[in-house]
Amino acid sequence: MRFAVFGTQPYDRRYLTAANADRHALVFLEPRLDAQTAGLATGCQAVCAFVNDRLDAEVLETLAGLGVGIVALRCAGFNNVDLAAAERLGLPVVRVPAYSPHAVAEFTIGLLLALDRKIHRAWARTRENNFALDGLVGRNLHGRVAGVVGTGKIGALVARTLRAGFGCEVLASDLVEDPELVALGVRYVPRDELLRQSEVVTLHCPLTPETHHLLDAATLAAVRPGLLVVNTSRGGLIDTAALIQALKRGTIGGVALDVYEQEGDLFFRDLSDTIVQDDLFQRLLTFPNVLVTGHQAFLTEEALTAIAETTLASLDDFAAGRPLAHRIGTGHLR
Ligand code: NAI
Repeated sequence: MRFAVFGTQPYDRRYLTAANADRHALVFLEPRLDAQTAGLATGCQAVCAFVNDRLDAEVLETLAGLGVGIVALRCAGFNNVDLAAAERLGLPVVRVPAYSPHAVAEFTIGLLLALDRKIHRAWARTRENNFALDGLVGRNLHGRVAGVVGTGKIGALVARTLRAGFGCEVLASDLVEDPELVALGVRYVPRDELLRQSEVVTLHCPLTPETHHLLDAATLAAVRPGLLVVNTSRGGLIDTAALIQALKRGTIGGVALDVYEQEGDLFFRDLSDTIVQDDLFQRLLTFPNVLVTGHQAFLTEEALTAIAETTLASLDDFAAGRPLAHRIGTGHLR
């Protein structure tokens, strides 16, 4: 099968090529998938997309019209796909539901430690031979109240690490409780209560209409002073404008973001020679207590290998007419 891979980065090419072992014809395309670029899939039976590709009705219709028979997301989240349109078109969409929750969980803890102990600022200082410590005072994680929103595969690992590793008091919120976490001493509470009581909040729920802007002006006004926020899930969980206001008021202790609401215009590209036009994003970068990475929490050798292997296994199943184990179905429609 000819398989068009949109938004290809060098590591995508490396890991997909290795996992493919020449069984499908991989067509690596640099542009992101959207209405303007969908035509590049001409002649391909399958399309591979990533988190910031736009899979709206128009794009899906174009792909279906070109004879594309399957869309394979090389990620877990699918908030960028119009599933109703895909269903209507009879176009199966598969994903990689779990490639390495450890990769994201470990990165989350890394961000939290860096933010709390101001490692990003310390590194900038020592590079300038400035070894003064004033301004770098952090706080122990041990004994702090940490709130985990979403205790699925990634959130559960983070909650476990915070509880069993660091000795935090861990609050959690999810639609379903994880009994193993409860046995560890994690306490499930309503989300509002979690946001009010926590000294650290880390977000691991999917982006849905219900979770969109779960941190907004109202919730941010009620948090504990000095709150540390970590988001490695999806940018839309946080109202960035409201977050900036809270940072300006000084009520938030720090924010570490691996994802950003409008990241589709920025991330996964080298923009160092351009003038970034996103004023909200630029404002975020001016705060000393804000740490931003470009959606790299997943980026480990293990995760990239698993993503490539699962994606190609889905393609094999499709080509052979077998059931698609990782198909996103109507049950996922919200
Ligand atoms: P998962 O599906 O295993 O867990 C999500 C959890 O959120 C589930 O337990 C679900 O019940 C819960 N949930 C759903 N709605 C909720 C709500 N309204 N309030 C509280 N909890 C709710 O997903 P997984 O693998 O743990 O991934 C979590 C998120 O991390 C994904 O949605 C994805 O957006 C993001 N992600 C980010 C990556 C990165 O590189 N930064 C890489 C992989 C995933």
